[in-house]
Amino acid sequence: MIGILYFLCLLSSTTAWGHVGRWGEANQRNGTDGGTGDKCSCKAFLPSSTFHIQDLEAVEEVAVEVNHKLELELGKMETYENKIPAYVVKIANLTMEIEKMENDPEAVNETSTESMKIQIKQAEALVVELQSSVQGSAAVFESLRETVTSQMSTLTQLEKKYDKNLVLQTHRDYIQIQLKLDECERRHREIFHPNIGSCAHAGIIRVSQPIVSQINAHLNAAYKFGAWGKDSKPLHGRESMYWYSGYTSAAITDIRFYNNYKDLILRNHIQHHNMQSSWYGTGNNVVVRGNALYYQRSSPFSMAKVNFTSMKYDYRIIPQASTKFSYAHSPNQNFDFAADETGLWVTYASDETGGRLVLAKINELSFGIEKEWQTSVYKPGVSNAFMVCGVLYAIRTADIQMEEIFYMFDTKTQREHFISVPFERFQESYVSLDYNPTDQKLYMYSNGYYVNYHLWFNYTTKAIEDTPALRIE
Ligand SMILES: *[C@@H]1O[C@H](CO)[C@@H](O)[C@H](O)[C@H]1NC(C)=O
Ligand SMILES: *[C@@H]1O[C@H](CO)[C@@H](O)[C@H](O)[C@H]1NC(C)=O
Ligand SMILES: *[C@@H]1O[C@H](CO)[C@@H](O)[C@H](O)[C@H]1NC(C)=O
Ligand SMILES: *[C@@H]1O[C@H](CO)[C@@H](O)[C@H](O)[C@H]1NC(C)=O
Ligand SMILES: *[C@@H]1O[C@H](CO)[C@@H](O)[C@H](O)[C@H]1NC(C)=O
Repeated sequence: MIGILYFLCLLSSTTAWGHVGRWGEANQRNGTDGGTGDKCSCKAFLPSSTFHIQDLEAVEEVAVEVNHKLELELGKMETYENKIPAYVVKIANLTMEIEKMENDPEAVNETSTESMKIQIKQAEALVVELQSSVQGSAAVFESLRETVTSQMSTLTQLEKKYDKNLVLQTHRDYIQIQLKLDECERRHREIFHPNIGSCAHAGIIRVSQPIVSQINAHLNAAYKFGAWGKDSKPLHGRESMYWYSGYTSAAITDIRFYNNYKDLILRNHIQHHNMQSSWYGTGNNVVVRGNALYYQRSSPFSMAKVNFTSMKYDYRIIPQASTKFSYAHSPNQNFDFAADETGLWVTYASDETGGRLVLAKINELSFGIEKEWQTSVYKPGVSNAFMVCGVLYAIRTADIQMEEIFYMFDTKTQREHFISVPFERFQESYVSLDYNPTDQKLYMYSNGYYVNYHLWFNYTTKAIEDTPALRIE
């Protein structure tokens, strides 16, 4: 009986709320006709609605808190940006003074060495302060990311259960927060890792927690197959754009482009290309580079490319590539494309190699294969693979929650290493994973969700000296 009352009320109130719009007002609707009993009383509706309001209010409160913390971090960024040039001058000065003393030991007396010691100590203290501040900020960003991600998923739940319009404003607030967080992280990276595009490091040493941006643009969890990301060599004016291609099977039939991250999240695409059916693809390990999509064509089985500037299609049959070998958890992933600081790559396996991965460098002008390397990694045992700075990384499933980067092959030295860099999966499966050199992030499409990861590289001087081959000017 009560259950029915709740239900009826929910129906009528939902329509009424369409006009009310915001929670502040809806909150005031305390049930004035609760005493009459014969029609659907708002009192009967309240228990579930109150619960709902509180949920949303909690999410809104967190937004205010996160925003406040972000403002503080943005303030810190400004301080860093001002302080760093001063530190650089100071250290240059000290170096000069020391050189002077070395060249003219006669002129050195106790007072001057004492003063140098003090200045060195001061510079050291400043560097230490900056370092701990930097580490602090990185940790703050990571925890804010986690908070935002979990609040966004609560919002998605609320959106599914209740009227979407009610959640819309809060959703927009969170998109603003995500943009601000991106901005904060970008500035942080520019100050402390001004090395996007540089390969002066000795490989990946850490992968962040999964950053879950959103469910796919079809708002449909059945679209489990697909990929998303950014162009790895964007045309001028398209640097902030994102792309997404998803489907209910491993087919590639279309692709959408979004002006920026916000439009991706709001599902406002700027371009939607339907591919010609004779050029449909399979597998999902595709990349977009120079406004062209590189993918596996179904028939004939080949590697293909569609240039969205000229709308021209092209393909190359690789006779030795086999359709027998796919990645461990997803079918049809025979060609896996990748792009990094050094260009465009593809991996596949063949009968000749007994299912072991072959890595090939693609010549972007001719769309031909320039060079190939055989690895010792058996493709069906691998979850996915990607390239960073001319190094192939292969991933395997470690346990029910974790994946592990377990293998690297350096095309410069032709050497392979077994490593162990674990990272958390977002959901039980994913079909595509790729690195993007423009932001040094990993992009994953996991069970219909856009997921990405930050990467940390080994920048120790020793590591860089140990691997001179990785230095790319
Ligand atoms: C609704 O109830 C709250 C708390 O019980 C009260 O503060 C508020 O004034 C009421 N609003 C109306 C419109 O009756
Ligand atoms: C650097 O040295 C010059 C003279 O040697 C001095 O005038 C200047 O104040 C110094 N700057 C700093 C930041 O210590
Ligand atoms: C020590 O050297 C500095 C310059 O290098 C000079 O200004 C100062 O007078 C010297 N002090 C003594 C005690 O010689
Ligand atoms: C795409 O086509 C345009 C126009 O013909 C050309 O300038 C561009 O180089 C092509 N891009 C790629 C990646 O092939
Ligand atoms: C970074 O590289 C150095 C030098 O090769 C090595 O000793 C160190 O273990 C590496 N760090 C990690 C976390 O792998």
